[in-house]
Amino acid sequence: MKKLFLFAVLSFLVFGCKKKSESNKKVINETLVNPEESLYRPNFHFTPHKNWMNDPNGMFYLNGYYHLYFQYYPDSNVWGPMHWGHAKSKDMISWEEQPIAIYPDSLGYIFSGSAVVDINNSSGFAKDGKLPVVAMYTLHNIDGEKSGEIDFQSQAIAFSLDEGQTYKKFEGNPVIKNPQIKDFRDPKVIWDEAHEKWVMVLAAGNKLMFYSSSNLKDWKFESDFGEHIGIQDGVWECPDFFPMKIEGTNETKWVALQSINPGHLNGGSGTEYFVGDFDGKTFVLDEIFAKQLSDKKAIWLDYGRDNYAGVTWSNIPDSDGRKLFIAWMSNWDYAQVVPTTIWRSAMTIPRELKLKKVNDQYILFSQPVKELDSYKNPKLEQKNFTVKESFTLIGNNNIDVNKSIIDIEFSNLKDDIYTFNMSNSHGDVLSFGINNKGHYYFIDRTKSGKIDFSDKFANKISKTSFETPQEKINLQIIIDKTSLELFFNNGDTVMTEIFFPNQPMETLKLDTLNSAEVNIDNLVISEFELKNQ
Ligand code: FRU
Repeated sequence: MKKLFLFAVLSFLVFGCKKKSESNKKVINETLVNPEESLYRPNFHFTPHKNWMNDPNGMFYLNGYYHLYFQYYPDSNVWGPMHWGHAKSKDMISWEEQPIAIYPDSLGYIFSGSAVVDINNSSGFAKDGKLPVVAMYTLHNIDGEKSGEIDFQSQAIAFSLDEGQTYKKFEGNPVIKNPQIKDFRDPKVIWDEAHEKWVMVLAAGNKLMFYSSSNLKDWKFESDFGEHIGIQDGVWECPDFFPMKIEGTNETKWVALQSINPGHLNGGSGTEYFVGDFDGKTFVLDEIFAKQLSDKKAIWLDYGRDNYAGVTWSNIPDSDGRKLFIAWMSNWDYAQVVPTTIWRSAMTIPRELKLKKVNDQYILFSQPVKELDSYKNPKLEQKNFTVKESFTLIGNNNIDVNKSIIDIEFSNLKDDIYTFNMSNSHGDVLSFGINNKGHYYFIDRTKSGKIDFSDKFANKISKTSFETPQEKINLQIIIDKTSLELFFNNGDTVMTEIFFPNQPMETLKLDTLNSAEVNIDNLVISEFELKNQ
């Protein structure tokens, strides 16, 4: 009966609506054939056209393009033999997927890693005046793993002479053999300007290992970091390591990003960070940061459950000078069973990282890259008004909440709970907000739609605490069909989570608990709108 109905609807669309434009027809037909496309394919977050994706890899900028590679299995929508998929963009928002850049071979799957532009040709791979882009990745020997060996991961390099489109693997691979460590992977290479050498950090079990090189082929082990530091009850993966100026000063500190699975505060995979000093050989925690750590156990880059394995772009021109970051917007707890089948997983919105010292604490701030601003079409702007009990931000005002960006500044917050409820007529509700009574921000996806694909997806409410009740807060909310990204107080606290409603969300309301009054000093609701290319 159902099939008959679908056939009737399709026939009507195909034969009945002759006046509809061709492109309209295409969209409607695709929607009927693959409702998943219209319901779940993000509007402005990168997804591969089809099949499985996890970590971002090898990102670099060159000649006007941001390159993004990613752990990719082109033959299925679950994890498998890893390739490096590839996409490029002029602004990190509109991406064009490219042919696969690196394929697995007899030495192994191509696991996560990084890429640098070798401007001085230190590797000697340059040819006919073309400078090499050098990628370094982990070779994962699946046969070795299956037969119970422990040295099945080693590090290899490949180079590109056509700006990252195609890569040739180095004949002398692997360039770093396994020193009998089971989890030994995800090399991140940087040019260390201060010490004039390549520095590479990789994850080894539950610590980081630092290497250095003058030519990207010969690597010397320098030191390790992390035993008994931070979270130790998961596997460390996908590190990053870079110097940063503390905002507003001339002082430089080094930041190490460290993804860990499991072990995140709110469950499963997450990324912690460390702030310290580096002398070209050894990374030592800064004293203030060490104190912060001992108080909190771990300091997370993102307190939501769906920001993992994120790293930064290399070769950003000095004239730009930003630290640009992107992460996989999922979690190993459930990534392989989320209810999309055509593709699986999206990336976060790219973010700019800034290191600030606030109240004698180091905080790594994250904010969406400014390139997103030019896609914002402001639909509603309101200043200085008071909300009592409830206020509808989106609903009956022709704004599509499923591609919305909301900037909001509150003042006069009381000892109360301020909950944003995004919902649809199916009864799905995604709640998030500020609990000023309990001193925490939260995301509650327990009623957000499809949740039963994994018992870990909505088993609890994600929370992150703050010390004292807040009187003023600014918040940027980015919603894109299946993802919610919250940037509190210019990004001092971030929460990213995915959700899968049964039908598109329709309204967004702000509710206060005890009919408390709150001032909204500024509110701008924008819809994401594609630019005319
Ligand atoms: C992190 C990770 C990496 C590894 C890759 C394999 O998500 O486990 O450590 O290189 O995924 O796809």
